[in-house]
Amino acid sequence: MHQPHEHLFRYLADQAAWIEALIDADLQTVNDAELLDVLRHALLAGGKRVRPMLVLAAASLVGAARPQEQATVRSLALCVEYLHVASLLHDDVIDNAEQRRGRPAANTLWGGSRVILAGDFLHARAMTLAGAAAGAGAITILGQAISRMVEAEFLQHRMAAERRRSIDAYLQVVAGKTAALIAAACELGALAGGGGANERTALARYGTKLGLAFQVVDDLLDYLGDPAKTGKQVGNDFAEGKMTLPLLLAIQRASPEKRADIDRLLDQPASQEAFGEMRRVLERLGGFALARQQAAAMIDDALAALTPFADCPEKSVLTGLARYVLERQR
Ligand code: IPE
Ligand code: IPE
Ligand code: MG
Ligand code: MG
Repeated sequence: MHQPHEHLFRYLADQAAWIEALIDADLQTVNDAELLDVLRHALLAGGKRVRPMLVLAAASLVGAARPQEQATVRSLALCVEYLHVASLLHDDVIDNAEQRRGRPAANTLWGGSRVILAGDFLHARAMTLAGAAAGAGAITILGQAISRMVEAEFLQHRMAAERRRSIDAYLQVVAGKTAALIAAACELGALAGGGGANERTALARYGTKLGLAFQVVDDLLDYLGDPAKTGKQVGNDFAEGKMTLPLLLAIQRASPEKRADIDRLLDQPASQEAFGEMRRVLERLGGFALARQQAAAMIDDALAALTPFADCPEKSVLTGLARYVLERQR
């Protein structure tokens, strides 16, 4: 029987094996045995490999033949996965996370200092690879994405500390922390594949909208996900006081009494009971359903950005990925 995402999953599985072989080969350049342990733990523990897959699919979409075999595409795919994994290493230190991809988060095994340094190593390696493969243009795209990620983390931190209720500020956070790198992956693929300015812009726009929806769904999974599938704990955002979209939309619709309930739950020390209660409050106020609707609208925008491209297998991969993001459980 036809599975809705069969084509996409086959493509993802093929690309995952390909990127893992690239990672394995590249790690030969690491001399320090302990650093290598941290890197292997972080890099070779599953992961959907969405960003390298986007580099590849974007390169194909603009007309590159057999992009897997092009050294530039290979390096750029590796480099976006390195930057992604570096951001997860740093993120888990910042968020005090205990689990990642169904395993103990690296910071619980090696401590924050080593994990931050391992993330820095991946940054350095990624920028070296990008420069060697595609020069200043690629470095600029990535450097700008990373700057935006850091600024978004600062804003997110301030939002949590001040309990800011601004949906605009939330959208600015997700645009920076998640969408910027996903857009960069798409743009780099287009660049490496020889795409023109319009194609690059269209693919970057697809990536931005996809990335926004991707993070909204991640934020939903932080309340509603199954840890056996996501590989990370639920309730982390709540425990960290993060002002994510389901919460912000619920607050918008809440009566003064319900708002006071929400404030009380945010102010008390995080516990299973408080999290369960918050989840019930958000459900009743429609926070989850409304956030899902917003994610769906972002996906519509992502799909619209692909209309200039002719139908081809890679376009189906990109449209399939966009639809899958709304249903994903991991
Ligand atoms: C997790 O990203 C962090 C976010 C940007 C939401 P992914 O969901 O792509 O993580 P892996 O690489 O598949 O584990
Ligand atoms: C995404 O935010 C993290 C980055 C983009 C670095 P989250 O903090 O929600 O990601 P998870 O849930 O830990 O994967
Ligand atoms: Mg996190
Ligand atoms: Mg999250």
